[in-house]
Amino acid sequence: MRIVHTADELRGLASRPGRRAGDRASRAVVMTMGALHEGHLALVRAAREEADEVVVTIFVNPLQFDDAADLDSYPRTLDADCALLEPLGVDVVFAPSVEEMYPAGDPVVTVAAGEIGRVLEGAHRPGHFDGVLTVVCKLLHMTQPDLAFFGQKDAQQIIAVRTMARDLSMPVRIVAVPTVRDADGLALSSRNVFLSAPERARALVLSRALQAADAAARVGADLAEALAAGHAALAHEPDVEVDYLEALDPVSAVPLEGDYRGEAVIAVAARVGETRLIDNVVTRFGPPID
Ligand code: PAF
Repeated sequence: MRIVHTADELRGLASRPGRRAGDRASRAVVMTMGALHEGHLALVRAAREEADEVVVTIFVNPLQFDDAADLDSYPRTLDADCALLEPLGVDVVFAPSVEEMYPAGDPVVTVAAGEIGRVLEGAHRPGHFDGVLTVVCKLLHMTQPDLAFFGQKDAQQIIAVRTMARDLSMPVRIVAVPTVRDADGLALSSRNVFLSAPERARALVLSRALQAADAAARVGADLAEALAAGHAALAHEPDVEVDYLEALDPVSAVPLEGDYRGEAVIAVAARVGETRLIDNVVTRFGPPID
């Protein structure tokens, strides 16, 4: 496994002799901000299954943080991350510095997430998805993959990335990998390390609320009833400060309302102590699911 820190080094490794248009997908990228856990490793394993060459990027992207304290405290664990990646057969780790990624300071030209960037997570974290898309766009250019793997846990992020790839004609297939959970249901997140034991126990209410909403939808509840079931579950933990529990369109991320029929993402965000967590479930509204 090669660990490189600059775009020049990456380009040096990137020449794949014999690769022609029409060859089977051969390079996959998994983009991360480090502090790797089983959720990231599931992305890497999925990438390894499908591509000949796997590049993992590790970069804590300042553009997507709206809170300087959050950026400063984000865990940075490069050596431990590389030790987890090596046995999985990763070919290249690209871990650039901020100066390498943004040599002229904050970029003048950025990618705008549009309406996707203004709802739900975007409404709570203004500019977040513009920052995500800008760095994802740069990393796609730098790593030149055929496939890019992202976790379904960041449902709105994957919708934003897919929309960017579609709207800007990027020659890459975006693959969503299911959320990895601890045995008790807590979605894995790099932020879980900030939870104390009692906070971690309280955080389980997020996945319970999603299960309640999903279960209701699957037996024929409409959108309002399913969300009410989720809110009722959340009410069991009054110390968990809920930002939203909403259903969104799986393609546009537009929040759904009324008599919606079809697939939906139910997403929740809440603050548990000082830690803000998100989670989601994909469900379907319409006739009961067997
Ligand atoms: O999901 C993440 O870890 C980040 O948002 C990403 C995609 C690596 C961009 O910085």
